Amino acid sequence: MNDKIAFGATYAPMGAEVAVHDCPADGAVPRDLDGGFFSVGADLQYPLSPGNIAFDGEGHVRVFRFQQGRVDYRSRFVRTQRYVAQDAARRLLMPMYRNPLCDDPSVAGLSRSTANTHVIHHRGRLLALKEDSLPVALDLESLETIDPVYDFGGQLPHGTPFTAHPKICSHTGNIVAFGGEAGGPGSDAIALFEIDRQGRKVWEAQIRAPYAGMIHDFAVTEHYIAFFVVPLLFDGERMQRGLVPYSWDGSRKSYLGVLRRHGDGKDIRWIATPTCGGSHTLGSFDDGGRLYFDREISPSNPYVVIPNRDGSAYDAAGGTSYLYRISLDLKNSAAVVEFEQLYPLIAPLPRQDDRYQTVPYRYGYMGCPAPDDPVRWKPVCYARIDHQTRHYVLWKAPADVSLGEPLFVPKHSAAREGEGYLLGVGWHHSDGLRSDLYIFDAEHVGEGPLATVHLPVQAAPQIHSWWVGGQEYPQRSAVAQVDAKA
Ligand SMILES: [Fe+2]
Repeated sequence: MNDKIAFGATYAPMGAEVAVHDCPADGAVPRDLDGGFFSVGADLQYPLSPGNIAFDGEGHVRVFRFQQGRVDYRSRFVRTQRYVAQDAARRLLMPMYRNPLCDDPSVAGLSRSTANTHVIHHRGRLLALKEDSLPVALDLESLETIDPVYDFGGQLPHGTPFTAHPKICSHTGNIVAFGGEAGGPGSDAIALFEIDRQGRKVWEAQIRAPYAGMIHDFAVTEHYIAFFVVPLLFDGERMQRGLVPYSWDGSRKSYLGVLRRHGDGKDIRWIATPTCGGSHTLGSFDDGGRLYFDREISPSNPYVVIPNRDGSAYDAAGGTSYLYRISLDLKNSAAVVEFEQLYPLIAPLPRQDDRYQTVPYRYGYMGCPAPDDPVRWKPVCYARIDHQTRHYVLWKAPADVSLGEPLFVPKHSAAREGEGYLLGVGWHHSDGLRSDLYIFDAEHVGEGPLATVHLPVQAAPQIHSWWVGGQEYPQRSAVAQVDAKA
């Protein structure tokens, strides 16, 4: 088995929507944990077409809702335009990942979003994200789809790609986002935009990448935006053949790109680095003179589902990623990019205290194998890492469990960094993937969960997750006003 099937349990399709009131729990669910732990993943509406990949499943959102020590659970498929059309036709109409040439003519002009990758909160709505499309807006309580093409009140043209990994500015609360292949499939254009807390677009620019390809995540600091692009190239020949239109080209370099926030983008600087892969950012910041960009990096192609352009077989070791700190002297135009491996932990899905997304930070959290575990693909531990001491602590799950991406929740609005709870879901391989939710004191992860919440069934598949505090849930009348203005 390879490292990406690693997440076979967390990504396993379910195909059913579930609601559970008052989930049973062992231990005391903290009464000050008030809000929603939202996640989304790729599920199956219909079986995948031959040659298609699990990345193309339909978005299935779930929430654990915490109130006064009680937990309710709910999951719903996102009613994307694609889902609704396929539901009416009772068959797939967009059968190939990011390949519109394979679409049924009846869906021409509809959003191709699966909304299956990430969720964030914006103005009383949950936005479900897929990087090739605009967000889909959902109701926080019911998870019903409110707007399948959320264009921020007409400010982003339909067809605009919107990353699944926008950053929330730690100073302003603004959403900073980008759209890759902004000129259409195979385009090397990257659109950049910033949306303020009132939903107004306050900045936009456009830059060009060194090559057209898949750019999954990026970095935003107080003064800069940075990309680390890896040669997961757009592949027009594969698109014409009706296949997933990407391949890995190990003959191409990777690049760090840096530009100023709020400029016109013309200052973008791309610096070549050795070829490497990886997808996700943990955190990033600048100190005025130097950029720090912490992310997972693999020696080569990170995705078993994306073929190598030279025809070579997928290299599981080369696709395994570890956390690195990339840094660059911004004052020296001749500076080279420096890489430092931070921990000996396999780290495809690292998270931080999200209040620190654009500023210096200390702690990170992730699901990972134990460092000495011979099974390198299965996330069986939660780790809390501490950049100040460069130490980490681990909690190891029961033997039959695979763990999903963990999420940090501040204890209260004024909590110091890392003071709060860590939430994560485990899937029991020996019990039909029946799932538990683990709740930790985030400062004592190694001591095990404070409480374990039991679902009677498998939790919906999960890629990424987000916390919405109870005080952020709007009054019904306020949401109606937002919708009326949008
Ligand atoms: Fe991601």
